[in-house]
Amino acid sequence: MPRRRQNSNRNGRADRIPRLPDHRARVSIPLHCRALLSANEDHSGEVIPVKKVPFFDYPAVYRRFADEFQAALADVGTRGAYIQQSDLEEFESKIAEYVGSRHCIGVSNATDGLQLGFMAAGLPQGAEVIISTHTMVATASAIHFAGGVPIPVGVGSDHLIDPEAVRAAITDKTWAICPTQLNGRTCEMDSLIELATEYGLEVLEDSAQGLGSQYKGRFAGTFGKANCLSFYPAKILGTLGDGGAILAQDDEIAERLRLLRDHGRIDRGDTAIWGFNSRLDNLSAAFLNIQFQHFDQTVSRRREIAARYQEKLCGIPGLTLPRAPGADPDRFDTFQNYEIEYGSRDALQEGLAERGVGTLQQWGGWPIHSFTKLGFTQDLPDADDLFSRMLMLPIHPGLSDEDVDYVADSVLQVIDGLVG
Ligand SMILES: Cc1ncc(COP(=O)(O)O)c(C=O)c1O
Repeated sequence: MPRRRQNSNRNGRADRIPRLPDHRARVSIPLHCRALLSANEDHSGEVIPVKKVPFFDYPAVYRRFADEFQAALADVGTRGAYIQQSDLEEFESKIAEYVGSRHCIGVSNATDGLQLGFMAAGLPQGAEVIISTHTMVATASAIHFAGGVPIPVGVGSDHLIDPEAVRAAITDKTWAICPTQLNGRTCEMDSLIELATEYGLEVLEDSAQGLGSQYKGRFAGTFGKANCLSFYPAKILGTLGDGGAILAQDDEIAERLRLLRDHGRIDRGDTAIWGFNSRLDNLSAAFLNIQFQHFDQTVSRRREIAARYQEKLCGIPGLTLPRAPGADPDRFDTFQNYEIEYGSRDALQEGLAERGVGTLQQWGGWPIHSFTKLGFTQDLPDADDLFSRMLMLPIHPGLSDEDVDYVADSVLQVIDGLVG
């Protein structure tokens, strides 16, 4: 009798013991990984979900700090402190201090932040910027609207921009490298900075998913000239709407960024440069100040969940997991996302959906180079192959251990059915 049948009543769910036909061979899943298989199957083989675990729980962002948010709303409203007020200043200094950045400038979202960053750093019109093909279209559009030409290249097994692919893409028009610190992981920054130095290129980071992650003790967002952070609700520090910031070390660039985000205005409406309205709302900053007090705890919980997935899903043939927390002494990963690889990805995703588990293909499954309507012509077959296998499992602080176990057990159950 397989071990999981003996264990399957662990949560007192005698009625939930999966009824799996005996003819299915289960040699694929190592015994130590065969834990509770949660979902039921009725006599016709139809799956009956035991619970629902959505990919992301948006109301939970509010629920987690509801009372404090209400108090902040009343406080900001009572003070009439809506635009560029003390809560924003406080937030900017806290983030800057936390990551060790000279400047942090709040903006309306990371996409604007990156565009303004390229403008403030002096991107020449028509210059090329090398980006990962595994990033949001926002990285490319920020460069496009700042007047540059984004050039997508492939990624390594860590899903991050591949320094060798960057080297191969450098031309005499290349002006910068824009690595995306994806999934709460930092890119191979030593190699990228060496390349930039060798070819005289700038580095600007898309750190929209990078807050809190570290490379050799240095925080994502502190390597490049102007680097964006996102506070979109599903982000590791996600507010009740859009929000972003730019991190910069250079005083002049920071000054230009402050002008660019606020119509180019200096004192009392006098205007120094053409600018935008791209300010981070003071109310959002007040919410973010509340959330940021618990940031370390949020990161720890995400790492705990990743460790739990690792423990339950390790060693499954054909299933590739992200690096476990602490596995690389040079990296501190925050698990903004938990992106796995599996050959029969679509069937896995479907099976998980039947079991009530929400998953997501990042960017809807579209790498940047696939956007031919935007003019991209690169041929990146390895990335296409990777994109046919990638899937993100739920990971956020609202998940209980039981939720995580249910997701992991559902993955095991679906894979068991697929290979059986
Ligand atoms: C890698 C990356 N870049 C840029 C963005 C854009 O961030 P925002 O929605 O704050 O503009 C995102 C948001 O999902 C992202 O994940």
